[in-house]
Amino acid sequence: MEFLELVKLRRSIRKYHNKAIEKKKLEYVLEAGRQAPSAVNFQPWHFLVIKNTGLLKKVKATYGKKWIDSAPMVLVICGDHSQSWRRGDGKDHCNIDVAIAIDHITLAAAEQGLGTCWVCKFNVMDCSELLKLPSHIEPVALLPIGYPAENGNPKRHNKRKKMDEIVQWNGFKSVDKK
Ligand SMILES: Cc1cc2nc3c(=O)[nH]c(=O)nc-3n(C[C@H](O)[C@H](O)[C@H](O)COP(=O)(O)O)c2cc1C
Repeated sequence: MEFLELVKLRRSIRKYHNKAIEKKKLEYVLEAGRQAPSAVNFQPWHFLVIKNTGLLKKVKATYGKKWIDSAPMVLVICGDHSQSWRRGDGKDHCNIDVAIAIDHITLAAAEQGLGTCWVCKFNVMDCSELLKLPSHIEPVALLPIGYPAENGNPKRHNKRKKMDEIVQWNGFKSVDKK
């Protein structure tokens, strides 16, 4: 599959089959995250695999939307602020690094026929307490993962800005917003 084809194939999946993910496939997907680039190669991330029924239910409850219940597994992708690179002006690159790892994971999952959905609208404090995360570990996103039982939301997925809205040559020109 061509890379752009894979990129377009990936979409947010919010309904999953009640089918376990094979260990080999999960390892493949996690390996894609492990190989992601990061600032100064600090790799400030942790991938928490949650499949224990009791804990899974509690992690899902930190998001609270009904659709996530069908996911057989949730990855809690965490950033480690004690390991991330800070630029001279103080900017912490932790969440940038973590986002790249998540993107690798979602694309690898799509290639393996698995669905995922970024979830950031969860209760971070509840999640951190539940998983007993130290204060320097931030749960950045929940990533439900499993075999898709829907084709995503094509209307939303296909709604992308036009190339000339986002690409500018030789400098930035403000565009009047109506
Ligand atoms: C940083 C980030 C946070 C997101 N958080 C949520 C979320 O909390 N709940 C949700 O249903 N979708 C969430 N999404 C999924 C987006 O809604 C989705 O990616 C977007 O609508 C485009 O659709 P597509 O992924 O199918 O292409 C999030 C996506 C990103 C990148």
